[in-house]
Amino acid sequence: MSRTAIRGGLVITAADELHADVLIENGRIAALATHGSAYADGWTVERTLDATGKYVIPGGVDAHTHLDFPFGGTFSSDTFETGTRAAAWGGTTTIVDFAVQARGHALREGLDRWHAKADAQCAVDYAFHMILSDVNEGTLKEMDLLVEEGITSFKLFMAYPGVVYSDDGQILRAMQRTAANGALTMIHAENGIAIDVLVEQALAAGRTDPRYHGEVRKVLLEAEATHRAIQLARVAGSPLYVVHVSAEEAVAELAAARDKGLPVFGETCPQYLFLSTDNLAEPDFEGAKYVCSTPLRPREHQAALWRGLRTNDLQVVSTDHCPFCFTGQKELGRGDFSKIPNGLPGIEHRMDLLHEAVVEGHIGRRRWIELAAAAPARMFGLYPKKGTIAPGSDADVVIYDPAAGHTLSAETHHMNVDYSVYEGKRMTGRVETVLSRGEKVIDRHTYTGRAGHGQYIPRGLCQYLDHGSGRP
Ligand code: URP
Ligand code: ZN
Ligand code: ZN
Ligand code: ZN
Repeated sequence: MSRTAIRGGLVITAADELHADVLIENGRIAALATHGSAYADGWTVERTLDATGKYVIPGGVDAHTHLDFPFGGTFSSDTFETGTRAAAWGGTTTIVDFAVQARGHALREGLDRWHAKADAQCAVDYAFHMILSDVNEGTLKEMDLLVEEGITSFKLFMAYPGVVYSDDGQILRAMQRTAANGALTMIHAENGIAIDVLVEQALAAGRTDPRYHGEVRKVLLEAEATHRAIQLARVAGSPLYVVHVSAEEAVAELAAARDKGLPVFGETCPQYLFLSTDNLAEPDFEGAKYVCSTPLRPREHQAALWRGLRTNDLQVVSTDHCPFCFTGQKELGRGDFSKIPNGLPGIEHRMDLLHEAVVEGHIGRRRWIELAAAAPARMFGLYPKKGTIAPGSDADVVIYDPAAGHTLSAETHHMNVDYSVYEGKRMTGRVETVLSRGEKVIDRHTYTGRAGHGQYIPRGLCQYLDHGSGRP
């Protein structure tokens, strides 16, 4: 039996802040007890980690990543090996990546491919959502089978016609299926048909720079798609999770639906909270580094996103980590913004950036942990194995120094990508040590993990829903 104590820290969960020691036994949390209590002092352990003056927090749960993901004729530049290692560096100990159904192929084939990509490669634990690219009788039946094996959420795209786009009828059918099988429908809410018209018109007028990516993917077309997704989910009687919400008007649609008591959820990402169209407008094609969809918005939208995170109209912050190198990948779109692969790197920085949000006063410390760990774990059926520090939970624990400070840079980050969207940004805190199921994967700023430590985790159903009634 291996026993470790973490002593002297401030344990922060979504629910509590406790000046407590933590006992870990065989990879799980065994007990918490007040510093200096006779009970805590009586623990016999092989190893003691000193967390005096530090936070002791649950490992982050990043519910939206794209590792080794095909897009625009290339693949995202982080593999499961490099991406999960970078996650560990940043205090994230669980990821939920998107397996992709190829058009004309079975869901099973896509899922098998994603297992083959990830198997024996990961530094931290992982699970999968499934992207539906082709809704038909066969794939609808397959959804039920996947739910049984722990793939309990399915993403559909209202964008990218001709690639992964689903029309409203296909989306409605998939939602009807999830209403019956208990899974969560995730929607990329942008009106891709209208956007493609604007793309064509922009290119024909010679507007080819990266900033036009942001101009054609209009706020109104995100808000319209969000509204339509909500109405389709109401008709189907299914819950809905809208990914990568970036526009104030889309938050308003979610808030209005939630005010009606509908089981509608929303996620945003650090890039929408900290970056803006100013970045997309950087000269000399530098703006290509910031091309993602939904796009970065004018800075004015950020206040609505922060408010949504405080009022719980938005419940989760994940990264949508989908990195492409500037050299050779983002460059595919020189002279035509529509050929720039969509996606930003960020898997390593989410915990730090949200801690920065605490320092800046946007959210409190427990909300930080809720948005980054507890809520994604509950949303995607991983709680309380993941997302908290409580007896019985996996010992995925981060010792976080709230005052260590460091600067984000491509020179020092661990993601396999040749630039940082946060180059030079100063962080107040820093991840010091990271445990995954009790094993040190980061030990005082040194990587001590290994590819293959990370395990696949079948997930349960969304824990914000009462599966008896289908209501939250
Ligand atoms: O630009 C993005 N977000 N790329 C990843 C694919 C997606 O739509 O999430
Ligand atoms: Zn998307
Ligand atoms: Zn994504
Ligand atoms: Zn159920």
